[in-house]
Amino acid sequence: MKKHFALLTCLSLFVFGKMSAHDGSQLWLQGTAPTATSTLEIAKAELAQNWKGGEPEFGFAKIRKKDEPVGSFSIFIKAGKPTIFSATEIGMLYGAYHLIRLQQTGANVTDTAFVEKPSYDIRILNHWDNLNGTIERGYAGRSIFWRNSADQMRRNADGEVNEEDLLQPKDAPEIPSLDHLRDYARANASIGINAYVPDNVNASPKVLTTEYLLEVKKMADVVRPYGMKTYLAINFASPMVIGGLSTADPLNKDVQRWWTAKVKEIYKLIPDFGGFLVKANSEGQPGPNDFGRTHAEGANMLAKALKPFGGIVMWRAFVYSPSDPDRAKQAYLEFQPLDGQFLDNVIIQIKNGPIDFQPREAYSALFGAMPQTRQMAEWQITQEYLGHSNHIAYLAPMWTEFLQQIKDIAHCPINNATSPARALTAISAVSNIGNSPSWCGNVMAQSNWYAFGRLAWNDELTPCQIADEWARQTLFADCSDAAAAKALASVKSLMLRSREAIVDYMMPLGLHHQFAWGHHYGPEPYCDIPGARPDWMPSYYAKADREGLGFNRSSTGSNATGQYPADYARVLDDIDTCPYELLLWFHHVPWGKIIQHRYGDRVARESLWDALCHHYQHGLDEARAMQRDWEHCQGQIDADTFADIQRRLRIQTRDAQWWKDGCLLYFQTFSCLPFPDDVEPAVHDLDKLRAIKLGITNFECPSQELLDSVR
Ligand code: GCU
Repeated sequence: MKKHFALLTCLSLFVFGKMSAHDGSQLWLQGTAPTATSTLEIAKAELAQNWKGGEPEFGFAKIRKKDEPVGSFSIFIKAGKPTIFSATEIGMLYGAYHLIRLQQTGANVTDTAFVEKPSYDIRILNHWDNLNGTIERGYAGRSIFWRNSADQMRRNADGEVNEEDLLQPKDAPEIPSLDHLRDYARANASIGINAYVPDNVNASPKVLTTEYLLEVKKMADVVRPYGMKTYLAINFASPMVIGGLSTADPLNKDVQRWWTAKVKEIYKLIPDFGGFLVKANSEGQPGPNDFGRTHAEGANMLAKALKPFGGIVMWRAFVYSPSDPDRAKQAYLEFQPLDGQFLDNVIIQIKNGPIDFQPREAYSALFGAMPQTRQMAEWQITQEYLGHSNHIAYLAPMWTEFLQQIKDIAHCPINNATSPARALTAISAVSNIGNSPSWCGNVMAQSNWYAFGRLAWNDELTPCQIADEWARQTLFADCSDAAAAKALASVKSLMLRSREAIVDYMMPLGLHHQFAWGHHYGPEPYCDIPGARPDWMPSYYAKADREGLGFNRSSTGSNATGQYPADYARVLDDIDTCPYELLLWFHHVPWGKIIQHRYGDRVARESLWDALCHHYQHGLDEARAMQRDWEHCQGQIDADTFADIQRRLRIQTRDAQWWKDGCLLYFQTFSCLPFPDDVEPAVHDLDKLRAIKLGITNFECPSQELLDSVR
């Protein structure tokens, strides 16, 4: 069987050549998803089809070592013959995928020995998929979990989609394809992801109806052999909407009974169900505050119902009431005082930054500020604020920057290395997966799904290591000749510079939320929606005026700096010691203030205005450099993938120009200063940029045609 497979691989390489070795639909994997229902059988089948070498053996350790996370494994390879040791079948499967990865990335697979343990116990994808098949902030087609074939996006005379309509699930649920779900589970298992939430945090109560639960059971049955646990995002008002109760008050006995019965029903169908993810009292979602109760009272009520079955509650801290003056402080103000009040099967799920997945944020001060409460991070893989699936943005550098801060500054025990023994640890990310042929809208965006999984497994991997692994497995069948090696180096260069490039052309020096209204594509620092919430408007964050730019969150302003550990708070609080990357996040800085900063290889001391201009210019230059990097891939990778990314990089570069011109021309109306000589003059007209309205929903990425017609 193995021989046949090897022959087939050789033949296909011979016939199609390395240019067609990967077209993206296979992700970073080879072969097909085994249909076995036993995890160990899947491991064997994967090795049979993909491992080229001495037949691997499995060594079962009878007892799992104390405090050894589930899924840990060790590998011994002697003279090319590997043995995978683990106490669990899922550890065997992870070991099998690891072995195959080593071989495919050209590592030593002749004589070596090592141990692998996951950094987090729960490594979970959150899908913001609506039951009608649309995906909130999804830029890769429609849901792989839910479909509503009858539902077409209905638009009014102005071309706007009726979003309420879109959120209505169809009465009878349908799952698109169980085979596709198996491929999904396999891809996750191959990088160690072991859990998923298939429905949007803006949850429909309908997901808890028996009809829908029966569909969820089918999903759970398909993904289980791959070690994937199923969770559900729930709507806190479900007892009222589908249970016929007059309240959802967590202290009400009928409400508690309703949840207890519902949880029992779920576990009868899905015995290994993971638990609930909850967005409560946030952006219009119902929650315990509606009944005069705290987040802790709400979360604990659900946690009690789940506890007998081993289930957990992931309670999100993404809250910001419209009344408080600084949105960045609100999650801390609401949650920190509740420290110690949550049951031990509740984990507070906190976005990495205090606002909302911006290209660069300070870390959320809640991390480390609730020592008696379990906490986990939430990252965003889908590029809501990073150019959707049009821009190439490799996000591992952003996530490792956050992990470093959590470790060095917050001293926050969120991973297995730092948590007290046997504490439950978890990490989550909002997925970018849809039913598009490349799963993620484009092949390069797959690298972020991959990077999340790899970092959730081992949070000490570097962005460079992960980029190397991913690119070798996904884009290049063979890197042995010089041209392929050069192409690989160029792809890595492109990936590693992409995040900082985006920060520079969108929002450098700590600027944030300068995005277009609603869909968040493109710049709109000038956005003005009469009557809108101020903290949904870019001007609230930039605070541009004749004096300067930036949000004063120092002790002379909102004092958000005061929420951080004292030493760090002091550094942030002083305009002269605050890191330049976060300067405008924490300070309102005069236009003429001399700052020391770095862009690319250059360290400069110059006025804020000149620094700002240089960052925008540098971002645009970097977008162009990314295009040049990509050109080295021509002829070395799948031709369609090459052309698709080349096209997206063109869009990205034109968008970078739009960002630079839109932001600089607008801020110039306040600074009244000229661009430095080495900054290119604008090619757009501010009034025309102000008039741009893309008219897209929160479910789509703008097409090239649409963008070309407006900017
Ligand atoms: C952002 C995003 C919403 C999402 C929300 C959340 O605000 O724009 O679409 O629902 O985050 O994380 O709950």
